[in-house]
Amino acid sequence: MRTQLLWLAGLLAATSLTACGGGSGGGDSTPSSSSASSVDSSSSSSSSSSQPSSSSSSVENSSSSSVSSDGPIAIEPDFDLYATTPSDFPVGLAVSAANEGYSIFNHSDASERQGVIARHFSQLTAGNIMKMSYLHPSEDTFTFDDADQLVAFAESNGMSVHGHALVWHSSYQVPGFMNGYEGDFAAMLANHVTGIIEHFEADYPGVVTSWDVVNEAVDQGASDGFRRSVFYNELPPTAEGEIPEYIKVAFQAARDAAPGIDLYYNDYDNTANSTRLGKTLEIAEALNDEGIIDGVGFQMHIYMGYPSINDFQSAFQRVVDMGLKVKLTELDIAVVNPYGGGNPPPQPEYDEQLAAEQKQRFCEVTKVYLDTVPADQRGGFTVWGLTDDESWLMNQFANAAGADYEDVWPLLFNANLSAKPALQGVADAFSGQGCL
Ligand code: XIL
Repeated sequence: MRTQLLWLAGLLAATSLTACGGGSGGGDSTPSSSSASSVDSSSSSSSSSSQPSSSSSSVENSSSSSVSSDGPIAIEPDFDLYATTPSDFPVGLAVSAANEGYSIFNHSDASERQGVIARHFSQLTAGNIMKMSYLHPSEDTFTFDDADQLVAFAESNGMSVHGHALVWHSSYQVPGFMNGYEGDFAAMLANHVTGIIEHFEADYPGVVTSWDVVNEAVDQGASDGFRRSVFYNELPPTAEGEIPEYIKVAFQAARDAAPGIDLYYNDYDNTANSTRLGKTLEIAEALNDEGIIDGVGFQMHIYMGYPSINDFQSAFQRVVDMGLKVKLTELDIAVVNPYGGGNPPPQPEYDEQLAAEQKQRFCEVTKVYLDTVPADQRGGFTVWGLTDDESWLMNQFANAAGADYEDVWPLLFNANLSAKPALQGVADAFSGQGCL
């Protein structure tokens, strides 16, 4: 049974809108030449001009919502989000843990944060602490204490865990020993995957129900469309037209370690971007031929006006047609898009109109997922962070686009843990009410 914790209605009084920025935002505005942006980045339009606007009355009309006038734009939901899903699929949340900023165990509001999480979500993902180097810092050492704390928290609250990520190129989390490794790289990589999966299977049976086995292997700038990484360099495709061997090695090891766990290939900007979508599907198809994949993860770091709902529909449909599951693994919807070309747009003001538009966008994205993916192929839905101020996007935009935003309000909860109209938007889609 899930633990139901009390709703924190009293928190509405606190922070003013301008005080919501803080946290992970900012950084300097030096443009970076990084080409490894993990954000859907090829939008041609900024958010505020391209979405149909809905009046703020659509928020007020909702029977379970009221807009606070003297603080963050907030609602008091009369529902528990996960309980509104039509077919009981995981409603996931990425969280910080251990000694990270916004840790659900250490942050100043940790117990309130845990309460909101346990009330509305049924699955957790570690935003960082279950990545490669955190769990496997040296060849003979696995370190599970921080992850165990998180997985145990999930278990004690009746939640599952989606593991993220067993193989990912990003340099901050590739264990140092894997660079320049001199032994049998395939055996080492298989041992990495096996050691991690088997630990959670043994100590928390049935809790870690799925893994992103490989994350972000596509690079449309590479000659064959596959990212050059230490993994690719050691285990490239064995013949032209094949996918890189390391991907097969990792998925096979994962399947062998725990046949009952759902295995995902996960990537970004793979809906509107047909090149990246095509490569994603090529990977999924090759793995599916060998029966060693269960689904495709769409990260969904998206914007108000990009990609289009049609783009989502047709991308999800391609995966559905392959008989695989579709999971929205890292959903956030920034209200401003710095990648539209030219100078990034200025810091927007998050007013009731924009909050209502964002509510509608969250609803429509959720709805197209439900409309396109049959119940038995729904891997679920994960939002990449709880409160707007903890989002990774402000740093990402500063680093990759030179856009120094105080806040881009991409998530479902305000900094003071009150729910945003966007939460109502997701619930409206789940409960089939439509997106008005
Ligand atoms: C991000 C985390 O949210 C940040 O805290 C960290 O600094 C960088 O990684 N795609 C992914 C995630 O698959 O692992 C990334 O998470 C966001 C982009």
